[in-house]
Amino acid sequence: MLRVAVVGSGPSGCYTAQSLVQQDPDVCVDVLDRLPCPYGLVRYGVAPDHEKIKSLQGSLRTVLEHERVRFLGGVRVGGPGGLPVERLRELYHAVVYCMGAATDRRLGIPGEELPGSWSATDFVAWYSAHPDAADAGFLRGVRSAVVIGVGNVAVDVTRMLVRGAAELRPTDIPQAALDTLTASGITDVRMVGRRGPSQARFTTKELRELGGLPGTEVTVDPADLALDPADPGALPTVQRRNLEVLRGWAGLPSADAARRIVLRFFLRPVEVLADGGRVGAVRFERTAPDGHGGVTGTGRFEDVPAQVVLRSVGYRGVPLDGLPFDSATGTVPNAAGRVVREGVPSPGEYVAGWIKRGPTGVIGTNRPCAKETVAALLADAPALLVKRVPADPVVALRAAGVEPVPWAGWLAIERAEAELGARLGRSVVKLADWDALLTAARSA
Ligand SMILES: Cc1cc2nc3c(=O)[nH]c(=O)nc-3n(C[C@H](O)[C@H](O)[C@H](O)COP(=O)(O)OP(=O)(O)OC[C@H]3O[C@@H](n4cnc5c(N)ncnc54)[C@H](O)[C@@H]3O)c2cc1C
Ligand SMILES: NC(=O)c1ccc[n+]([C@@H]2O[C@H](COP(=O)([O-])OP(=O)(O)OC[C@H]3O[C@@H](n4cnc5c(N)ncnc54)[C@H](OP(=O)(O)O)[C@@H]3O)[C@@H](O)[C@H]2O)c1
Repeated sequence: MLRVAVVGSGPSGCYTAQSLVQQDPDVCVDVLDRLPCPYGLVRYGVAPDHEKIKSLQGSLRTVLEHERVRFLGGVRVGGPGGLPVERLRELYHAVVYCMGAATDRRLGIPGEELPGSWSATDFVAWYSAHPDAADAGFLRGVRSAVVIGVGNVAVDVTRMLVRGAAELRPTDIPQAALDTLTASGITDVRMVGRRGPSQARFTTKELRELGGLPGTEVTVDPADLALDPADPGALPTVQRRNLEVLRGWAGLPSADAARRIVLRFFLRPVEVLADGGRVGAVRFERTAPDGHGGVTGTGRFEDVPAQVVLRSVGYRGVPLDGLPFDSATGTVPNAAGRVVREGVPSPGEYVAGWIKRGPTGVIGTNRPCAKETVAALLADAPALLVKRVPADPVVALRAAGVEPVPWAGWLAIERAEAELGARLGRSVVKLADWDALLTAARSA
């Protein structure tokens, strides 16, 4: 019987497990996650008000409840106190690393570290109740915000900044984040792209949603649209539709709304400026299209006032001790999913998802990605089966001082979240700290 460990229970981990059990009637898969909760960014990234996408957890759940798949939560692989990669390799015929891209890309500009300048990664983790997230007082005294970047995460955080209580209360957002967001005095959010509207990375459905937010007006500077050199007829569908939506918002008369989202383009961040020891504004250099999809600086600058800056310029993979890592791409070098060590594919070690491809793509993109990896693993299986592995790796994990949170522990967390919701007069409300999660898990 082939024994496979999958590290990470996000979409790529779950799709890897699914593909394995569908294609090999004898394989047994343990899905390890450092958190006691499964589903990766579907639980800790997808915005709480996107309940339909969140409901994909239901199909990932079916995978983790398969008779030959076992969820082992609370098992960190690598890092201080974590299970070393080398030890994990001894316990299984094959290991598939699916640990995503846990940190943020940096801007590398002065003032990036000022109080009030946060990565969207931190902000998302906070409103998603990630147990490592801190309540950093993100919105204290904030009237205007700058969001740097024009991808779908930038759209998520922009929308969350202006959402009201009526829209957030029915979601599973943790109570503290709900209270902070709905009590905030934010009136203005500026979402800023360094290139033009036709190069923005957001998708049309997500963009269009900004125009339907209650009590919020959306505008685009017509001058930014005029600068964009793209011929709409020659653009791919998403970019063409994005432009149509943006043109519909350009120069709209003021709707006298309580909150305003302004989309800006052709502005490259060069410095976060301080006011009284914290963020006061962002200095941008005006850019101009270079004719090849990029931009060049113009030497003209513009300061945009803000009390909070959310840097939404992409995620980044984190190296794992004992695994090769390409620091230029933030991924593990691989050939069709096989980890490549010193230029040679290493049988028994695989990757899937964001740590394989880099931090782009929607949930569904991880399915074919995982399939490709599983095809490589199953092709290697006859050779891998020669290795002797323990009958039950959990016994060895316990001997190494690791007590995994079983599926029943996760179900107990779900029950505790439903009970908390009932106590607060809401539906499900997420537990936001390690103590609460582990106490609930142990009650199983
Ligand atoms: C903020 C945000 C919102 C998004 N919203 C959407 C959306 O609405 N719709 C959509 O289709 N896509 C969305 N995406 C994209 C989607 O979430 C990703 O494509 C997908 O989650 C990537 O899957 P993954 O399994 O590679 O990584 P992840 O989902 O990040 O899963 C990685 C898992 O590995 C675990 N892990 C990490 N390190 C270790 C370790 N050392 N040991 C053990 N476990 C470890 C983590 O705890 C996590 O559970 C969003 C992405 C972000 C960042
Ligand atoms: N609802 C959904 O479906 C949903 C929601 C959230 C996320 N996702 C997916 O998750 C993935 C990650 O999303 P993301 O928004 O984090 O990444 P992304 O799509 O790569 O967008 C990153 C943005 O940051 C900008 N940027 C990068 N470096 C910069 C710098 N130094 N200065 C200024 N701007 C900079 C990029 O501009 P350039 O283009 O100029 O580099 C781009 O606008 C995407 O595939 C996304 O579609 C999907």
